[in-house]
Amino acid sequence: MSVPIPQPPRIPFIGNVASLDREVPINGFILLAKQYGEIYKLDLLGRTVISVNSYALANEVSNESKFKKVVGAALVQVRHLVGDGLFTAYNDEPNWAIAHRLLMPAFNTMSVRDMFEDMRDLCDQLLLKWERFGPENIIDPADDYTRVALDTIALCSMSYRLNSFYTNDQPKFAEAMTDFLKECFLRASRPSIVQAMMPGATAKFEEDKKFMTSVAERILNERRENPIDKKDLLNTMLLSKDPKTGQGLPDEAIINNLLTFLIAGHETSSGMMSFMTYYLIKNPETWRKLQNEVDEVTGGEPLQVQDLSKLNYLQAVMRETLRLAPTAPSRAVSPVEDVVLGGKYAVKAGAPIMMQAWTAQRDIAVWGDDANEFRPERMLDGKFEALPPNAWQPFGFGTRACIGRPFAWQEVQLIIASVAQKFDLFFDDPSYTLELQMGLTVKPKNLRIRAKRRDVSP
Ligand code: HEM
Repeated sequence: MSVPIPQPPRIPFIGNVASLDREVPINGFILLAKQYGEIYKLDLLGRTVISVNSYALANEVSNESKFKKVVGAALVQVRHLVGDGLFTAYNDEPNWAIAHRLLMPAFNTMSVRDMFEDMRDLCDQLLLKWERFGPENIIDPADDYTRVALDTIALCSMSYRLNSFYTNDQPKFAEAMTDFLKECFLRASRPSIVQAMMPGATAKFEEDKKFMTSVAERILNERRENPIDKKDLLNTMLLSKDPKTGQGLPDEAIINNLLTFLIAGHETSSGMMSFMTYYLIKNPETWRKLQNEVDEVTGGEPLQVQDLSKLNYLQAVMRETLRLAPTAPSRAVSPVEDVVLGGKYAVKAGAPIMMQAWTAQRDIAVWGDDANEFRPERMLDGKFEALPPNAWQPFGFGTRACIGRPFAWQEVQLIIASVAQKFDLFFDDPSYTLELQMGLTVKPKNLRIRAKRRDVSP
């Protein structure tokens, strides 16, 4: 017999919207999971959304024969810019399948190794900035990691330099993208009647969209007129044919995917590096161990691509960071047919379910009583490989899982190892406590640090 899915009390007209913090909804989801446990449902402006919070239920919905990706409300807004690009495509859109087949080989670990020197170029710009400004300078790590991540994905995917480190403010493209994504997120939670009364916000949204599309069009046209012999993602999309259908990607789909890489490929990695920085400063013993490992592996020389596989402790720190702070904290699926979740909660086919990686990856049933503690050692010595299926799932699941995972992994390895090699890091305010901020992804709020060169004595 099925039991009802718990639901917080509703307010007339707005349902459960007030249960979620408008600025940082993840805080509301975490709080509700503490209150209601493994599952609850919310009425969000007439849409019923089910949230699954435990490992067991997250694992159950990670079964592609029974559950498919849903393009959630915020991603529906992002579609205004990138349509059927990989991230936002509906499951049956033909350009998703073609782009997926064309791009999978271009994003595999071997192909990403060829991007190492381009990644280093941008990483060096970050290191130089921190070095030049000196130890008294207060650094906003989320801002600098966003610059490096956005510039890296632009250079590696389309050989285009955004030059974010050469301006004080964010470059126009980065600003347009940040504003656009913020607005997508807000539009998703605004009733349409309220949206209709905000012509200024709509005009700005359209202007940002037009500007970003025009940049991508210009990059595509320039490449056509001046072809280069480089295996970047733009050339892959322009020159390859789908092995299954023999079709290439139409220009519109190429533009959608260029913009998709920029969107999907910067905030997530930047948030990951910001959380890593927080956890490393907070845990000085871990920070020292990581620095020792980097020193031993590199012998004080610049990091090489072949060093990456030897940095086991760094890998454990990365895994533990993404366990506690998955920067894409939830994903949406729906059952293909009516199902009974956990043997007791009846859910209709097509009903949207949010899989909350943030809470599922802290389930004490898998991680033990210290599940909320940062302990990279739990990811070492074969323990990661021995985890139950889907216990660690920050990159999503199945055919719609993150195509950029090897890219992000290499980029974060390079940047954090280089930072560890060169600097000691400190909180600007030693009493800083972690708070979250949220756009389409999550980051630490108001984290400010200082960086002091290790090779310069006080
Ligand atoms: C999909 C996380 C970096 C490109 C996803 C999904 C997650 C995710 C959870 C699945 C979303 C869903 O089911 O709706 C992350 C994290 C990253 C990261 C945590 C870094 C730490 C990147 C990078 C790129 C990228 C660097 C591009 C270079 C994509 C794309 C998809 C995707 C294109 C859609 C794949 C598809 O549906 O075919 N990512 N991502 N991601 N990611 Fe990432």
